[in-house]
Amino acid sequence: MEKENNNNWSGQLGFLLAAAGSSIGLGNIWRFPYMTGTNGGGVFVLLYLLVVLLIGVPLMMAEIALGRAAGANPVRAFSSLAPAKSPFTMLTATLLILGGIVMLVTDNPAGALIVGLIGALFLAIGWKTVGIFCGLVPIILLSYYGVIGGWTLIYTIDSIRGVNNFTTLEGADSVMKPILHASGNWKWGVIGGQLLFMATCLGISLAGVRKGIERWSKMLMPLLFILMCVLIVRGLTLPGAMKGVRFFLEPDVSKLNASSVIAAVGQAFFTLSLGMGIMLTYGSYLDRKTDIAKATLGVIGLDTLAAVMAGVAIFPAVFAMGFAPSSGPDLTFKVLPAAFNMIPGGMGSVWNVAFFLMVTIAALTSAISLIEPPASILTGELKMSRKGAVISVVAVCSVIGVFCALSMADWGNLSGVGEVVKKIWYGKAPGSFFDMLDGFCCNWILPMLGLATTIYVGWVWGSRYALKELREGNKGSLDNSIWLLLAGFKAKDGGHDRRYLFTFGILWGFALRWLCPVLVLLAFFNCIGVIKL
Ligand code: ALA
Repeated sequence: MEKENNNNWSGQLGFLLAAAGSSIGLGNIWRFPYMTGTNGGGVFVLLYLLVVLLIGVPLMMAEIALGRAAGANPVRAFSSLAPAKSPFTMLTATLLILGGIVMLVTDNPAGALIVGLIGALFLAIGWKTVGIFCGLVPIILLSYYGVIGGWTLIYTIDSIRGVNNFTTLEGADSVMKPILHASGNWKWGVIGGQLLFMATCLGISLAGVRKGIERWSKMLMPLLFILMCVLIVRGLTLPGAMKGVRFFLEPDVSKLNASSVIAAVGQAFFTLSLGMGIMLTYGSYLDRKTDIAKATLGVIGLDTLAAVMAGVAIFPAVFAMGFAPSSGPDLTFKVLPAAFNMIPGGMGSVWNVAFFLMVTIAALTSAISLIEPPASILTGELKMSRKGAVISVVAVCSVIGVFCALSMADWGNLSGVGEVVKKIWYGKAPGSFFDMLDGFCCNWILPMLGLATTIYVGWVWGSRYALKELREGNKGSLDNSIWLLLAGFKAKDGGHDRRYLFTFGILWGFALRWLCPVLVLLAFFNCIGVIKL
């Protein structure tokens, strides 16, 4: 009998649920509803779907194909499929160094140092640089993700204890502010919650890819969707709920502007776990029988469904209880609990427990995926044991996370450290260590790693080799005419087997080589203020 391999997925379903578990997280339940609320409702949902189609689908397929073809960690993947140095390496390194010089001239010495160093690293070791960043970025993300995970645990426990029983935003402030700002005695509570969340991630990851990540994703993902359904039914049966649904799903084109486009691109990267090395690493655990194109559509479909379901669970309750929908990140942590508490019947704490349990589950399955890229680099390149690698990653993230938690409310608990960091890094723009890491990752690094991946797969390794990889396990849909596919036919049903102009594979290659880099670059330049869309 074949021995079970704990370092690979058991099959397509295992991969699908683990990858969906990675994608569906705080990005869907916390970020997506408030982004929709602040960007014009339904029109943002439409825009987001367009971005997912144009950038998300091609990039996720590219990341998974790269990982499976290399069968290795991100550092190896970015150095084994094509020569480490190519004309693109030189071009990229030169652009980075030039960028560093521009930043120096425009009074941003810290940014200049970072960009210049990345350029120098590119010159020295080529595309491996991107692989190294695929290991570093999840460490940064997990550091503050763990803090939010800790909050969700605290909120769940407090809701069970009936402490979160406020019905106004002022009431929410007095209960939530000390937690979100880690002030007074709450700093130990917040650190405790964060460490408990990280310890849970550690326990799951130590059990391995199949017996840990896959097994837990298979159990938790259905539970997540069940909890969402319960909350949707509750929300929709409230009087006045339809106003919330209309706000969420009715597109209002007049509210569309350039910043919504940028927000949609950033949201797509964050929620689909792109530009973080996760899909690449998950792809390296994948067998050759799995159809990557189909699996990608499955993951993205589930992620989008979860985001829409989260909106339908949240907005009806918010509107029915008379709260404003556009209150930013506070929507999940203050407005919604208050709205649940106002529902007649006195079952507010039940809805709050269900909701925060759902957020905790979503955060957990994403957090465990953030451990994988750095852990796989440590085991593959430094020959560490999986146990040693996972423990090291979680330990580092927990320590950085403690700084994040204590830095909330503009460095409240660490004002001395804050002053030093602000002097070196921000100068003019204040914010906590938490804000700094979030802004640096989501606005800069994720799009840059996404861009680097499209260039590497599309141009350096080559889309034609990547397409060969995608064909493994694919039953022909990649080479079928789009028109035949849409009509529900196969190539042979068309009566001839000539090559079609519009196949899914050709469109994928075009999107990867041209569309994704241009769109990501535009969003990035707008984000850092080089252009103003
Ligand atoms: N993709 C993960 C999320 O949406 C990181 O939270």
